[in-house]
Amino acid sequence: MNKAVVMNVKKLYKSFGGNHILKGIGLTLHQGENLGIVGKSGIGKSVLIKCIVRLIEPDSGEVDVLGTNVLECNSNELNEIRKKVGYLFQGGALYDSMSVRENLFFPIRRTQFKDKKLDTEELIEQSLRSVGLLDAVDKMPSELSGGMKKRVALARTLILKPEIILYDEPTTGLDAVTSGEISELILKIREEYNTASIIITHDMKCARIATDNIKIMDDGIFRIEGTYDELSNTEEKEIRDFFI
Ligand SMILES: Nc1ncnc2c1ncn2[C@@H]1O[C@H](COP(=O)(O)OP(=O)(O)OP(=O)(O)O)[C@@H](O)[C@H]1O
Ligand SMILES: [Mg+2]
Repeated sequence: MNKAVVMNVKKLYKSFGGNHILKGIGLTLHQGENLGIVGKSGIGKSVLIKCIVRLIEPDSGEVDVLGTNVLECNSNELNEIRKKVGYLFQGGALYDSMSVRENLFFPIRRTQFKDKKLDTEELIEQSLRSVGLLDAVDKMPSELSGGMKKRVALARTLILKPEIILYDEPTTGLDAVTSGEISELILKIREEYNTASIIITHDMKCARIATDNIKIMDDGIFRIEGTYDELSNTEEKEIRDFFI
């Protein structure tokens, strides 16, 4: 049986002045799928996922997320969608003046999130346990390594029990071993939270470990899609070069 579609993006356009970034791009994400997006720096990968949750307003196109028409919905509906779509920002972006606990509490307070079974402290514990960092709850971000910060940022995303996660460069700045661990963690999170994800990455090890399919973005659209093995063995040198 075909898996349900959880996100459908069609003919999305976005320009900044005369700088045309998205030129009718589209994608479909299925329940349980981890979709990789690869492309040159500055090509518009981050702009694309920001447009999907309207952190940037696209110029035109269609975005359907979990049955909601995102570009037409009102602010209440948009807030509901943003609760269901976790966003792991490029760079992690923890609040440096807040402890790990306070960082994790922040989205709960902002969205007035309530879980049927767990109180706030238990939610914080659960999401830190999911990323293997339970003992960091009282630490400040300055006391954490780069890999630990990524894990806490991921825990902060998980705390609202998202149905979809958008990962923007989840392994940049990490050594190969730690980046492998984060990539494995992305797979574990999918099992545990039953999520579908978009994973933007330059890190081909991450793409190999964590994705089912990869789309290559170029000049405002997706040029080609395939599995890691398919794309790394393609005849097209320009595509293969990403996989070196
Ligand atoms: N808010 C903005 N205002 C104006 N231009 C922007 C804005 N956000 C992004 N851009 C431009 O859009 C283009 C694509 O940026 P984007 O951040 O999506 O690239 P990227 O593919 O994510 O690159 P990287 O791999 O380096 O993260 C760049 O030229 C950037 O300068
Ligand atoms: Mg980017």
